[in-house]
Amino acid sequence: MNKKTSIGNDIKIAKENLEKGNLVAIPTETVYGLAANAFDIHAVAKIFEAKNRPTFDPLIVHTDTIDKIKNWTIDFPIWAEELGKHFWAGALTLLLPRKSIIPDLVTSGLPHVAVRIPNHKLTLELLQHLDFPLAAPSANPFGYISPTTANHVFEQLEGKVSYILDGGSCKIGVESTIVGEENGKLTVFRKGGIAIEELEKVVGKLIVKEHSNSNPNQKKVASSGMLLSHYAPKIKMRLGNIEEILNEYQSNQELESNEIGILSFYEKYNQVPVQNQFVLSKKQDYSEAAQNLFSYMRELDKLNIKIILAELLPEKELGRAINDRLRRAAY
Ligand code: TXA
Ligand code: MG
Repeated sequence: MNKKTSIGNDIKIAKENLEKGNLVAIPTETVYGLAANAFDIHAVAKIFEAKNRPTFDPLIVHTDTIDKIKNWTIDFPIWAEELGKHFWAGALTLLLPRKSIIPDLVTSGLPHVAVRIPNHKLTLELLQHLDFPLAAPSANPFGYISPTTANHVFEQLEGKVSYILDGGSCKIGVESTIVGEENGKLTVFRKGGIAIEELEKVVGKLIVKEHSNSNPNQKKVASSGMLLSHYAPKIKMRLGNIEEILNEYQSNQELESNEIGILSFYEKYNQVPVQNQFVLSKKQDYSEAAQNLFSYMRELDKLNIKIILAELLPEKELGRAINDRLRRAAY
């Protein structure tokens, strides 16, 4: 465990720490990652320890070129070429058959490795200067809300990460979309920062894995390691029609209005104090909503309230990824 965490925008310091096998938080366009040398199992083990993350949940490997990825994958199919060409650097992660140079600890022993070229100037420059790729999950304690600023990382992982490379707030704000093959069909394993509609313009119809509540006892989800309860604030979150829930509370006098927090898509509600209300995007813009999602959840989690009421967005574009996070947060 490290004693001191520093924050800055010095790629050299980040590089030196990573070369020593230390953990460094890196900015990406989606969320901040908690990175280590993917080829060094002792360094990778520190990620699981710092996040308190079960080792059955595999990590994404980040690098800066498709050529580097081809060194550690057995096959780089045409669909991967097409998606990579269109969306990298970007919020897309591909599952590809791995060579044994990628340690079992990184993939939880799965035959595929998750790979991504993130689109962030500082991190791309860092990756160019490293002779190893970076294994990096989101830089939050396991199960909690993902970080979209350097300060979010500091608040929760101080003392557990050597250096936080500060690259400002994340432009997209939700994690990458994960795509791989299952039973010979291209499948979305996690909805994320690149809308399914965009991917389908390039590779045609995709199967979308819904991690619905079909098996609430399932702690381990085989292929993408996605868990039902995730991205969650400490304060209980309830999803639904906000107006109706407020009326319900009003009629049974269950809660005072100042004990309620609201995370809404575009409007405020006059039954609840304004300082308890966070509007994702007044102009109903999905990208703006995604950008605000995790930091507003964190703000709400700091309030002295008993419940957070949230509503789903229309199921399209980034609304799908946002709804996925909201459902897991409220689960
Ligand atoms: O945007 C992102 O993807 C961010 C930034 C830092 O790149 N990373 C991120 O990592 O969200 P994480 O660990 O929080 O989520 C990665 C997901 C997990 O649900 C994991 O189970 C899945 O990717 N995954 C990783 N490797 C996999 C593999 N080999 N096979 C199947 N699923 C995998
Ligand atoms: Mg995560």
